[in-house]
Amino acid sequence: MKLKRTKTCGEANKKHVGEIVNLNGWVSTNRDHGGFIFIDLRDRYGKTQITFKPDLYPELAARAKKLRMEAVIAIRGEIKARPEGNINPQMETGEIEVEASEMIVFNEAKPLPFLVSDRESGNEELRLKYRYLELRTAELQSIVKLRHKAYQVTRAFLSDQNFLEIETPVLMKSTPEGARDYLVPSRIHQGKFYALPQSPQTYKQLLMVSGYDKYFQIVKCFRDEDLRADRQPEFTQIDIEMSFVDQDDVLSLAQALTQNIWKDVININLPEKFPIMTYSDALENYGSDKPDTRFEMLLHEFESYARKSEFTVFKSALESSGRVKAIVLKNAASEYSRKKIDILTNWVKEYYSVKGLAFVKIGENGFESGISKFFDIKLQNEIMNDLEIKTNDILFFIADIEAKTLQSLGALRLRLAKEHNLIPQNTFNPLFVIDFPLLDFNEEENRFVAMHHPFTSPNETDIKLLETNPIKAKAIAYDLVMNGYEIAGGSIRIHSKEIQKKMFTALGIGEEEAKEKFGFLLGAFEYGAPPHGGIAFGFDRLIMLLVGTDNIRDVIAFPKTTSAYSLMDNAPSPVDQRQLDELNLQIKQKH
Ligand code: AMO
Ligand code: AMP
Repeated sequence: MKLKRTKTCGEANKKHVGEIVNLNGWVSTNRDHGGFIFIDLRDRYGKTQITFKPDLYPELAARAKKLRMEAVIAIRGEIKARPEGNINPQMETGEIEVEASEMIVFNEAKPLPFLVSDRESGNEELRLKYRYLELRTAELQSIVKLRHKAYQVTRAFLSDQNFLEIETPVLMKSTPEGARDYLVPSRIHQGKFYALPQSPQTYKQLLMVSGYDKYFQIVKCFRDEDLRADRQPEFTQIDIEMSFVDQDDVLSLAQALTQNIWKDVININLPEKFPIMTYSDALENYGSDKPDTRFEMLLHEFESYARKSEFTVFKSALESSGRVKAIVLKNAASEYSRKKIDILTNWVKEYYSVKGLAFVKIGENGFESGISKFFDIKLQNEIMNDLEIKTNDILFFIADIEAKTLQSLGALRLRLAKEHNLIPQNTFNPLFVIDFPLLDFNEEENRFVAMHHPFTSPNETDIKLLETNPIKAKAIAYDLVMNGYEIAGGSIRIHSKEIQKKMFTALGIGEEEAKEKFGFLLGAFEYGAPPHGGIAFGFDRLIMLLVGTDNIRDVIAFPKTTSAYSLMDNAPSPVDQRQLDELNLQIKQKH
C-alpha cells in the first residue's frame, strides 16, 4: 500500500511540528476558503485538519476541492503549527494542521443518505439500512469503544477471581420453558432440529458437575420473543456459575463485578453495599419487580380508607379479593385538566386492562373533583395526614385484581415521573431483588410455569409447599436491578434429583417427558453434582446504562428492528429450493 499511515488522525500535536506524516482516513468536511482547501480527515482516533495550498500545489488543491464527504484518502505532508487565531481548542489535534504535498484517493463516496457528522439527519430506519455508515458517527464509535472496555474489564475481573472462560455450543437441544427457541434444521439428521441457546443454562450446570467450580462466558443468547426497547432477539450475557456457594456469595460477586465495571469504564463509584429488596416489597411499593428507586412516589395501600369511603367501585373490588392502591403526584393538581386525566385514564385502560383511573385533587379545603364526594371530611383529613398530602397534590387510584392494580400503578408512577422530570439524571441506583416466587400460573396453558427456570431451587423451608400450595413457594432467585432495568438474574440451582423431580411434578412435566427433555442433566446429577448457583448479566443493558441510552439498538453493532428484521442485509430471507430439498423441508402455503 502506498502512503501507508505513519500516524492516526487523532495523534499529531504541537510536539510533532516539522515532521512529515502520512495520514489515511475519511473526508469529514471539505471547505474552500478562497482557493485554500481545508479537509478534516477522520479515523476512529480523531480528526486532523489538512490544508491544500493552491499556490504550492495547484493540481493537488484542484483534486482536493472535488473530494466528496466520506471519500477515503491518503495524504502526505508536513505537520505545521496553526496560526494563533486558527487554534481549535475543541480538537485534540487543534493546534496543528498538515500541509499536504501528495494525495491518493482510495475510494470516492456516493452522496450520503444522511450526515455522518449528524446522526439525527436520518431517521432510525434509514440509519439501520446503512448501519455501516452510522457506525462511523462519533456517538456510535464512542459506544463501541466503551463496550470494548466493558468486555475487557469483565474478563480481567473474573479471571482474577479464578473464573475460567469456557465456550458452550450454539447448536443445542431444544428445551421447553422460557421464550420460544430459534430452530436450526439438521441436514444430516433429517426432520431433526437444533435450537440456538436461550442461555447456556444447562451447560453451565453441567460444567459444575464436571468440577469447573467458577465459570464465565460472554455469550450470545437467542430468544424468539416479543421485542421492546430493551430487548433484542439475539443479545449478549455475561454468564456466570459457581459451585459450593449460597445466595450471598453470588450476590457479592455480582456486586463486585458491577462496581468494577462502573469504576473502570466510566469512573463512577457505585454504593459499597447494594440495597436488597424483596420481590413482594418491590411490587407493593413500586408496582414492579424492577423498581426505579431513583425517585420516591411509592404506591400507598388504600384498602382501609376505601372501606371507610362511599365509593362502591373500590368496595366491590375489595369484596372480590382485589386491591386498591394510590399514588400521589406532588404539587401538580392545577396542571391536570379533565382532558389530561382522560388521556392517562385511556392509557392505563388500554395497556393494563384496568377498569378505570380514579383521582382526587387537593384544594385549600380538602378533596376536590374526581371521586372526592365519596370521602367525608373526617376521612379526608385522616388520609391527608397519613399520606402527608398538601394543597395542589393530586392522587390517582386503581382498584382491580392485585396484579393489575400493582402493575398499572407502577407504570403510571414511571410515566408521571418522566413527564414531570422527577427522575434524577446521572444517578445509578443498583439494588438486588430477592425472594421471587418459584412458580407463576399460566392462565392460557392452565398450569404452573417456572418463574425463572425449572432448575431454580425452592427455599429449603418451602419444599413441602410444592405438593400442598405451590404458588406460595419462594425461590432462591435474585435479580440485579438498576434505574428500572433488570440487568442480571440468577438463582441457586436444584442439585438433588428428588427435589428436581418434585419441581417437574409441580410444573406438570411427567417422568417420561423430563427424561426425554432434561435426561442428560438429570443423569449428570447422579454422578456427583455439587451445590451450585449463578447469575447472568444482560451485557447490552449494562452498556445502555453506562452510556445513558434507552434504546438497546444503540449499543449493538448490527442490531435488528423490533420485528426482528435486519434492514441492512434483509435477514431473514427466503432460501433456495435446493437448500430446502437438502433439508427435506417444505414451506406450507399461507391460507
Ligand atoms: P434471564 O433470562 O433473567 O436469566 O437473563 C439474564 C439477563 O439477560 C438480559 N436479557 C436480555 N437482554 C436483551 N434482550 C433480551 N431479549 C433479553 N433477555 C434477557 C436481562 C436479564 O437479566 N440462564 C439464566 C441466568 C441464570 O439463572 O444464571 C437467564 O438467562 O438483563
Ligand atoms: P364511574 O363511577 O364508573 O363513572 O367511575 C368514576 C371514576 O372512577 C372514573 O374516573 C373512573 O375512571 C374511575 N374508575 C372506575 N373503575 C375504576 C377502578 N376499577 N379503579 C380505579 N378507578 C376506577
